[in-house]
Amino acid sequence: MSEPVTDVGQDPNRRDFIYIAAGAGAVGAAAMVAVPLIGQMNPAADTLALASIEYDLSKVEEGMQAVVKWRGKPLFVRYRTKKEIAEAKAVDIKTLRDPQTDAERVKAGHEQYLVLIGVCTHLGCVPNFGTGDYGGWFCPCHGSEYDTSGRIRQGPAPKNLEVPEYTFLSDTKIKVG
Ligand code: FES
Repeated sequence: MSEPVTDVGQDPNRRDFIYIAAGAGAVGAAAMVAVPLIGQMNPAADTLALASIEYDLSKVEEGMQAVVKWRGKPLFVRYRTKKEIAEAKAVDIKTLRDPQTDAERVKAGHEQYLVLIGVCTHLGCVPNFGTGDYGGWFCPCHGSEYDTSGRIRQGPAPKNLEVPEYTFLSDTKIKVG
């Protein structure tokens, strides 16, 4: 299930908020934006190069994902369940196309949160959350599948979903960029 957020504008840091979604219910909303991004999002480089946003994590409940627009791209903010974290940690990275431990993709002490650029590393579609065989994201364009750490597990994408530069300002607030 997805819901549009209407209280934008009060907090300038949330102006770019798109929607918040949970589980397989995200499919419908995500599918609507499942189009190649390359060539479509071409904002002025000079205004975006320095753009950073702050995001209040208390908006995201366990098991859910928020999607925020950042530098012209969707940013996925996931609050992972304990089961999802355990699955991500249990993977033998020697079996991965783009080997990375889960710990390398999250911030120490905040491993429940996964922050990703929501752009498939194949040809730039937006993957759907809550679908696929690996508990993470499925890209409907050519079938790439990402796990609960956003790592590529199947399909043509060559790399894991990118983790942007971000820092925790407090336990419930991050600054991205
Ligand atoms: S763009 Fe995602 S699999 Fe091709």
